[in-house]
Amino acid sequence: MDGCKRRGWKEGGRDDGQAEVWASDLQGRVWAAPARLGISPCPEPGDLNRGRKFGSSVMESRMDQDEVQKPEPGRNTGNHNDSNTDLQVTYTHEEVAFFHLHQTHHFDEFEYPSDQYCKQDLFPKWHLPLKIASIASLLIFIYTFLRDVVHPFVTTNENTFYKIPILVINKVLPVVSITLLALVYLPGILAAGFQLHYGTKYKRFPQWLNGWMLSRKQLGLLSFFFASMHACYSLCYPMRRSYRYKLLNWAYQQVKQKKENAWIEHDVWRMEIYVSLGILGLALLAILAVTSIPSVSHSLTWREFHCIQSKMGYLALLLCTIHALVFAWNKWVDVNQFVWYTPPTFMIAIFLPIIVLLCKSVLLLPCLRKKIQKIRCGWDANTEMNKTQMTSRL
Ligand code: HEM
Repeated sequence: MDGCKRRGWKEGGRDDGQAEVWASDLQGRVWAAPARLGISPCPEPGDLNRGRKFGSSVMESRMDQDEVQKPEPGRNTGNHNDSNTDLQVTYTHEEVAFFHLHQTHHFDEFEYPSDQYCKQDLFPKWHLPLKIASIASLLIFIYTFLRDVVHPFVTTNENTFYKIPILVINKVLPVVSITLLALVYLPGILAAGFQLHYGTKYKRFPQWLNGWMLSRKQLGLLSFFFASMHACYSLCYPMRRSYRYKLLNWAYQQVKQKKENAWIEHDVWRMEIYVSLGILGLALLAILAVTSIPSVSHSLTWREFHCIQSKMGYLALLLCTIHALVFAWNKWVDVNQFVWYTPPTFMIAIFLPIIVLLCKSVLLLPCLRKKIQKIRCGWDANTEMNKTQMTSRL
């Protein structure tokens, strides 16, 4: 058995391709814990938050770090010998008491729990992702509003305020969605860079990177939510009255110009390709979202989970990026797209995804990939150096 396999999860390595998954569910860990403690696993919704309150800070910080740096003990490894990895997580008396408390006290919506529970944060893991999504949405909305509504109004006195509810919103949604998706995979790349730089997996990531990695599941789910909304908005384009009037006007213009056929071959291809890619991208995002549900993710082996969350995730990002690239088609070389010297939204949309995809391609180069694999299997550049120094002294 090679070193990597032998170590498996037990050494708590980041053999999980660590930062590349967005379903690092803390919930799974906490909910899986009673079984390991010999307590019947009967969690109630909201146990997680209560757990955070009751659990010692040691537990919190350890879990947060483990979350990123170790595969989940509760996950099916596909190897029964790995069951003893559960022993790796030890629980304090407080934690055991907390799970006992849940057995004896059954809270439901008809009871009002003590003040302690009322003061708890609502959805603490969603705060940062929601803030990022809201700020990005607001900025993109203002940007698009200025370009698509204010600019025509100021320059040609054209009234395009009707665009706000659907057309402007449907620029905000895909841009935010693809940016959030890129933000899911960016920390993985930074973490790989970090490990390559220090030549070890045993050095802890900086706090901000740890926090970012712990938010990947929420960022991914928000990205899926925005993408689904974008698909709904896009598919209702032909239903709009404004579109029907525009279509009639185009037809009238065509008759006036005595044109019999309005077919533009390259435009037809552009649309067929980018809509198809969008649908494929959304379908992959849906699979990623479903497999991030704890009950589903726990039924997968680590390899299956990693394959879906990492490989399929990158594929989804690639498809969505090509979708935006093909949507823009020949607008890439059209200087008229620059309004008030500002670039069009599709350029902004693909900026981060392209950076992430390029960095990932660099990390896939055999020399780097092999080194990362070695590091994640436990190889440590510093101990290796010490060993060579020792042998040279001897
Ligand atoms: C059923 C799936 C999808 C359909 C039918 C669809 C359709 C469309 C349409 C019609 C546009 C042009 C919008 C416009 O005229 O302003 C567009 C643009 C775009 N879509 Fe999608 N899309 C889908 C999925 C996705 C997904 C999953 C993503 C990424 C997460 C995405 C990202 C984008 C981006 C970035 C643009 C460019 C927006 C801009 O700056 O104007 N789309 N899509």
